Amino acid sequence: MRLAHFYSLLLAPYAAAQALSTFPATPLASLHFPAPSDAPEHADPGNLARGNQTGYNICNSTTEGPASLCQTSFVNDLSDFCLWAPQMPGSTIGNTEGDEVAWCTKKGHGTRLIPDGALQAVQLLKAPDYVIVSGLINQSFINIASDDSGGELDPHGQDLRGNPIGGLMYSTQFSNGQGPMQVIEWVNFMGSKYA
Ligand SMILES: *[C@@H]1O[C@H](CO)[C@@H](O)[C@H](O)[C@H]1NC(C)=O
Ligand SMILES: *[C@@H]1O[C@H](CO)[C@@H](O)[C@H](O)[C@H]1NC(C)=O
Ligand SMILES: *[C@@H]1O[C@H](CO)[C@@H](O)[C@H](O)[C@H]1NC(C)=O
Repeated sequence: MRLAHFYSLLLAPYAAAQALSTFPATPLASLHFPAPSDAPEHADPGNLARGNQTGYNICNSTTEGPASLCQTSFVNDLSDFCLWAPQMPGSTIGNTEGDEVAWCTKKGHGTRLIPDGALQAVQLLKAPDYVIVSGLINQSFINIASDDSGGELDPHGQDLRGNPIGGLMYSTQFSNGQGPMQVIEWVNFMGSKYA
């Protein structure tokens, strides 16, 4: 009996030594889900060192609202775009980059909605190969601490799983009048101490 117990103590450090891998087999930016409906529930494979994807990529009327953990985002036009922001009030971008969720201007994406009064200015610039939406926001409306100077999100991150982990982006800007297409490369700078 005592011998068996001691043996299990020896096994524990051995199991701990089998550390989870850091990198996924396929980087997030190499996963292609052409339309939002092609996305799996979790774009990230999970079971990796930084923890699992906290939200999901299948988003619908059931998930829409202030508790949504949707991590599928859109930049369609000036009246229809989303930003990445924290799940919980008063967070910094730096502390929550791995598990931020989509906050959108418009219903229909299964996400949280950017509250009325948060956006104070917005502009859209379209170039042949890219589109930029920029603006001013009262960041405390979307859970960013008012004194946070912010940070940057993209589909690579420190371990190629993206920030947020498993975050996907779609746009109609390059789809010739068809439905939204996946955007492989994107960046989202969020927050400013002075906005
Ligand atoms: C993370 O996800 C993997 C694969 O889906 C699952 O097996 C594992 O239990 C999850 N781990 C945690 C801590 O939730
Ligand atoms: C709605 O989204 C949730 C969360 O991803 C998913 O579990 C559920 O199956 C979806 N419902 C439909 C009808 O697609
Ligand atoms: C942002 O919104 C909060 C909450 O409504 C308010 O207290 C604060 O004064 C606003 N900040 C600015 C810069 O307008």
